[in-house]
Amino acid sequence: MARRKIIAGNWKMNMTPTQAVALIEKLKPLVVTEDADVVFCVPAIDIIPAVEATKGTNIEIGAENMYFEESGAYTGEISPAMLTDAGVKYVIIGHSERREYFAETDETVNKKVLKAFEHGLTPIICCGESLTQREQGITIDWIRQQIKIAFLNVTAEQAAKAVIAYEPIWAIGTGKVATTEQAQEVCAAIRACIAEIYDDATAAAIRIQYGGSVSAASAPELFAQADIDGGLVGGASLKEDFGAIVNYK
Ligand code: 13P
Repeated sequence: MARRKIIAGNWKMNMTPTQAVALIEKLKPLVVTEDADVVFCVPAIDIIPAVEATKGTNIEIGAENMYFEESGAYTGEISPAMLTDAGVKYVIIGHSERREYFAETDETVNKKVLKAFEHGLTPIICCGESLTQREQGITIDWIRQQIKIAFLNVTAEQAAKAVIAYEPIWAIGTGKVATTEQAQEVCAAIRACIAEIYDDATAAAIRIQYGGSVSAASAPELFAQADIDGGLVGGASLKEDFGAIVNYK
């Protein structure tokens, strides 16, 4: 069975609640498609108005992060139950910006992935190498390690429903998109790694996105690759271009 594409926007730390609703109203008619899942991952404070503004549309709302405990004395954090109660379906986990600026590690990523599944949230699990790692030729080793730790104790049934976002750090926000060959090579390696951990059926089911300077111009070729099942889009998800990316065909 062909995998359904999933195209998600990651708004990062942009858009006040008022701006969020205005942007959704602008993008709503542009992102209509029957061929892909469309997700807007928004800042926590935008979640409730965004869920409201997308009711009755094909847009699902995702969070950009969550904590791995149920509740308690964790000032400033958002729990998985808070997300599901608000109508969130997806949650980005382990974005490279969270790893770099907020001390997230493969181990915390794994805890969050397990907790997301426990609550019926679909994790969008991020991985990616730095420019130095790419130049050292250790990209695939590095990504395999990130994936193996992220999926520790995750069942095959859960893994089949996960989304992985391959985002080379050097391509994020730089306008320097990976070549289709580079993106496909790593996404294929990720799928092979999932087959090793689980089995071929799980590897065939899991969806793998490419992220890093995806634009309306680069999306069609990237998303046509055998192992690329859509994109995680930063900057271009805040503009009308996102409509063209979603309707890339
Ligand atoms: P850009 O599309 O702005 O490069 O961001 C990619 C990204 O980090 C999505 O999570």
